[in-house]
Amino acid sequence: MCGYAYYNGNGGRRDSIRIPLDDRSIFFGDAVYDMMIGANGKIYQAEEHFERLLKSAGAIGLDHGFTVDKLISIAEECIKKSELQVYSVYVQLSRSSEGRVHSALGCVGANILICIEAAELPRKLCEVKLCTSEDKRYRLCNIKTVNLLPAVLYSTDAERCGYDETILHRDGYVTECAHSNVFIMHRGILYTHPLSELILPGITRRHLILSAKMLGIRVIEEPFSLPELYSADEVLITSTTKLIRVATEVDGISYKSEDREICSALFCELLRDMLP
Ligand code: PDD
Repeated sequence: MCGYAYYNGNGGRRDSIRIPLDDRSIFFGDAVYDMMIGANGKIYQAEEHFERLLKSAGAIGLDHGFTVDKLISIAEECIKKSELQVYSVYVQLSRSSEGRVHSALGCVGANILICIEAAELPRKLCEVKLCTSEDKRYRLCNIKTVNLLPAVLYSTDAERCGYDETILHRDGYVTECAHSNVFIMHRGILYTHPLSELILPGITRRHLILSAKMLGIRVIEEPFSLPELYSADEVLITSTTKLIRVATEVDGISYKSEDREICSALFCELLRDMLP
């Protein structure tokens, strides 16, 4: 089977699942989601991802009856039915099917959508080419909602120009990427934007910080500027599906430092921690 989907208790092949027009994810993007990977029946960092999902739901006042344990058990059932060995797990909670009324006051309950797709686990440190762009998103980037138009536009422009990801900056300081967090390594110190409403609290970001500390690398969670980005020894990006990737280029500037050994050590430590 090429993939499995589940919507409010009905599961089946991806192409067999129907979502009602009035699901508020359709008209308003009134929904939160999380994206995970797993293998052999397991979801890696399941608790952390589902806790973040429920935190996102809480942040938009979405009324749902789910607990982390309940969500894990539904998702694991879907994985079993998918018959896939290695997969991504997309879970979305939308705010009921009350249709196109802006105020959510009359909405009760949540719809749940789960998609299981074949995936590959990241097994080696990959190199990427990055570009930069002004961060024009709104200021609720810590909530993982399905309002992803900016990420779609940044990613389309990046791909059109031969780049793999876009580093975003606001008021001259780097925040994160279109769909990853970003770090710089300079003189043996790892820097990244602190947690705030300007970035998603990435699960891989958190684990990279822990891995760095395990390796004795100092981590500073402070905003860094565009000139600091350009003059860094290394630029690293993190996300669940790719773990860490290292930049060979940002806006045409090459990064060829001797620190790649540190990046490889970080990748190995992260792999050991996150995909045991
Ligand atoms: N994206 N920042 C943004 C804006 C993201 O969308 C993501 C993840 C991250 C990295 O977070 P994590 O390490 O928890 O995956 C940072 C996922 C992969 C997506 O939307 O598909």
